[in-house]
Amino acid sequence: MQNEVDNISERPTVRVLFVCLGNICRSPAAQGVMQHLVEERNLEAFYEIDSAGTYGGHSGQMPDRRMRVHARQRGYELTHRARQVTSDDMKHFDVIVGMDAANVDDLQSMAYTDAQMRKVVSMGSYIRLNHHYDHVPDPYYEGSEGFELVLDLLEDACECLLQEMETKRKNIHQ
Ligand code: 4NP
Repeated sequence: MQNEVDNISERPTVRVLFVCLGNICRSPAAQGVMQHLVEERNLEAFYEIDSAGTYGGHSGQMPDRRMRVHARQRGYELTHRARQVTSDDMKHFDVIVGMDAANVDDLQSMAYTDAQMRKVVSMGSYIRLNHHYDHVPDPYYEGSEGFELVLDLLEDACECLLQEMETKRKNIHQ
């Protein structure tokens, strides 16, 4: 697995896909956090951000109500509708970020080419502040603390991932 994004191309827009299991908790929250960061820095023109799940059973649903409530308290409005990740996603997106090891394994098994394989990274490798986590844990069966932990980890990891993507994007486009 890659632990660094190396797939940012000459295209003007970097396409980033966040992936978890159900696409109703972690990955739509990651999408909301990253979108917020990108807007705060006036980088909207340079990033396309989406999310999907490896499991399609929640397709069409809004994010889990608990995730929406906790996200809103930090200023993130989550409006994504759940969908399952597809083989077209493996072609379209430049950076495909799995929330945990199972998500990363599932994404890697969908990769047809080495280039697609190199798009897959783990969100855990971008967590800097909390040394106890090398992945974003599933909050579905947890209480409020689980959802707060997810947001803490995502805010940290999105910051770090955006820094890395910006460094690469600027190197290419300078
Ligand atoms: P997510 O959380 O992968 O962060 O969206 C889950 C959502 C639903 C289920 C599991 C995890 N589920 O088993 O339905």
